[in-house]
Amino acid sequence: MRLQHLTWPEVEAYLNRSTGIILPIGSTEQHGPNGLVGTDAICPETIAWTLGERHEVLVGPTQNLGMAQHHLAFPGTITLRPSTLLAVVRDTVLSLARHGFTHVLFLNGHGGNIATVNAAFAELQAEHGLAVWAAGGEVPSLGLYNWFAGPRVRELAGELYGDAEGGHATPSEVSLSWFATDTEKQASLSPRVAPSGSAQCTAEEFRRRFPDGRMGSDPSLAGREHGARFLEAGVEDAWEAWRAFVGAR
Ligand code: NI
Repeated sequence: MRLQHLTWPEVEAYLNRSTGIILPIGSTEQHGPNGLVGTDAICPETIAWTLGERHEVLVGPTQNLGMAQHHLAFPGTITLRPSTLLAVVRDTVLSLARHGFTHVLFLNGHGGNIATVNAAFAELQAEHGLAVWAAGGEVPSLGLYNWFAGPRVRELAGELYGDAEGGHATPSEVSLSWFATDTEKQASLSPRVAPSGSAQCTAEEFRRRFPDGRMGSDPSLAGREHGARFLEAGVEDAWEAWRAFVGAR
C-alpha cells in the first residue's frame, strides 16, 4: 500500500486499523561504472513496496536525496547537507505524528544516512523531553532499518560474492536495482575488485582513492536473477524487523 496512491479517506481508514508506516530513504549518488545513480533509493523502496503489498503495511514517499557529499566529484550525484536531511526527517515525522501515526520506520539504503537520521531522531526526542514541542503530543516510536544489513541479505551476499561484495557499488545492491528497473549495464572493471578504504574525506580525495567510484566491490558479478533473490531476502528481513518494531502480531 503506497501513500502516494491513496486518497485521504483511505489513509484515514488505514489509521483506524494501523498506525505504522514505512518510509524508504536512500541517496542519489554514483554507484561505479555499472551501477545506477538511484541504487540506494531504488533498493529500499522496492523492498518496502513489495512488503507493503504483501502485508498491507502503508509505505510513504521515498526520500531520494541523502548524504552523498563524498560522491560529488562524480557527475549525477546530488547531496543534502546533514542539517537539511535532519530537517526533512524531522518535519516528515511531525507531519505523520499529527495524523496519529505512532510507529515510523525508515527503510534505509545508504550507510551514509545512518548518523544523520539517528541525529534527527535524537533531535525529536530531545525536543519532546525538553517540552519545546508545544503541541504536547507523543513522539512516535522511530526506527531505522538498513536493508543491506539484514541477516538473510548478508548471508546471500556472502554466498554469492564472498569478499567481492565490498562496501559501495556492491554486487548485491546493483543486482537488486537492476531487477527493480529491468536494466543491466556492462562496463569493464579494472581492477576486478576495487580498492578498500575510508570514505571520510572530501569528494576530490574520494575520487583519488576510488577512481571509478567502487569501494572494495566487484559488481561485474551482479545480475538481475540475483536481484530477484535479494528482493525476497530483503522483504523477509524487513518484515521481521517491522514486526519487531511494532510489537509481535
Ligand atoms: Ni549504495
